[in-house]
Amino acid sequence: MRAKSPKAFYTPLAAGAPAPQRERPARLERMIHFVPPHLEKVRAKIGEMAGQVDVLLANLEDAIPFDCKAQARAGAIAIGRDNTLGSTAYWVRINALNSPWHLEDMLEIVPQLGDSLDVIMAPKIEGPWDIHYLDQFLACLEAKHAIKKPIQLHAILETAQGVALVEEIALASPRMQGISLGPADLAASRGMKTTRVGGGHPDYAVLADPNDGGPRARAQQDLWHYTLARMVDACLAAGIKAFYGPFGDIADPLACEQQFKNAYLMGCSGAWSLHPSQIAIAKNVFSPDPAEVAQALRIVEAMPEGGGVAMLDGKMQDDATWKQAKCILDLARQVAAKDPEWASLYRF
Ligand code: GLV
Ligand code: MG
Repeated sequence: MRAKSPKAFYTPLAAGAPAPQRERPARLERMIHFVPPHLEKVRAKIGEMAGQVDVLLANLEDAIPFDCKAQARAGAIAIGRDNTLGSTAYWVRINALNSPWHLEDMLEIVPQLGDSLDVIMAPKIEGPWDIHYLDQFLACLEAKHAIKKPIQLHAILETAQGVALVEEIALASPRMQGISLGPADLAASRGMKTTRVGGGHPDYAVLADPNDGGPRARAQQDLWHYTLARMVDACLAAGIKAFYGPFGDIADPLACEQQFKNAYLMGCSGAWSLHPSQIAIAKNVFSPDPAEVAQALRIVEAMPEGGGVAMLDGKMQDDATWKQAKCILDLARQVAAKDPEWASLYRF
C-alpha cells in the first residue's frame, strides 16, 4: 500500500479537528486495568482503584453481556465524568467495528467524555482500513464537539488477518498509541486447538532425540513467541508501544508473571490486568528490576560519553550496551517519578 505524504499524514482529517500529535506523551503504561463499567459496585470503587493503576480501561466489548451494552456505555461515561483520575490515563475498549454496538459507542462516548478520554482501544483490527475508518470518524467527532486533544487509538491484534498486516496497522495513523496481543480471539481466528486466554500449553513442546529407550527431555515452548516478536518489531519500528494482552488464569499468578516477564524482556511496555491481583504482578514486572538499574547505572558511568568501550566484570560494554542501559534508566526514572517506593529501591 502506498503511504500518505508526511504533510497529509499530519493534517487534521476534518476542518476544526485538533492537529495530529507528532510526539506521544511519555506515559507509564505498565498495566491497562480492565473494569466492567455496567456494575455499580465496580464504579463505586473507581476512586481508590485509579491511584493504583497506570491506565484504567472501561470495557464495552467481550465479557460484557449483550443486554448490558447500553448500561456499560453509560457507566463508562459516568466513570470519566464523576472521577478525577489524576495521572491515571482513561481508556475505553469499544465494540468491534462489525458489531451493532460500536456506532453508539463512538457517538456517545467521544462527545460526552471529550478531553477526559485518552485512548480508544479498538478490538479485532484486521488491517489499516479499520484504523483509517476510526481516524476519520474521530476527526469528525472532535471537530463537531470542539475536542482539543486528539484521541489516540490502540489496536488489539487478535485475528490472523491482523497479524498478516500488523506493520501496516502500526503505521496507519498518527493517532496510533500502541497494539496489544489478544491471544484468546487470535487463537479462535487462527484455528488454534486451545481453550485458554493466553499463556502456554503443555502440549506445545519439543522432545530431545530418542535415548535408547531412556527418558527423553521435553521442554514446553512459548505459543506466543512468534506473534509477540512480530508485533513488537512492528510497533517499535512505527514508534508506538507494544503490550501483552490478557492472562485469563487468574488463579495462576506465577504463570501470569512469567508471560508478562517474557513480554517485558522482549520490548513490551505493559500488559492487561483483568483482576486486581494482576495489578501488582504487572507493576513489578514492567518496572525495571533494581539490580538491573544498578548495573545500567554502572554501564553509563563507565562510558560517560555514551560510546567507546569498557570492561565491567569481564563483560564488554560499548555504544550498544550504553543504549540498552539508557532504555532501562529512562524507564526507571519514569517509575521513580510516579512512585517514591520504587525511587528508593533504585536509590535515585
Ligand atoms: C482479548 O481481547 C483477547 O481476545 O485475547
Ligand atoms: Mg478479544
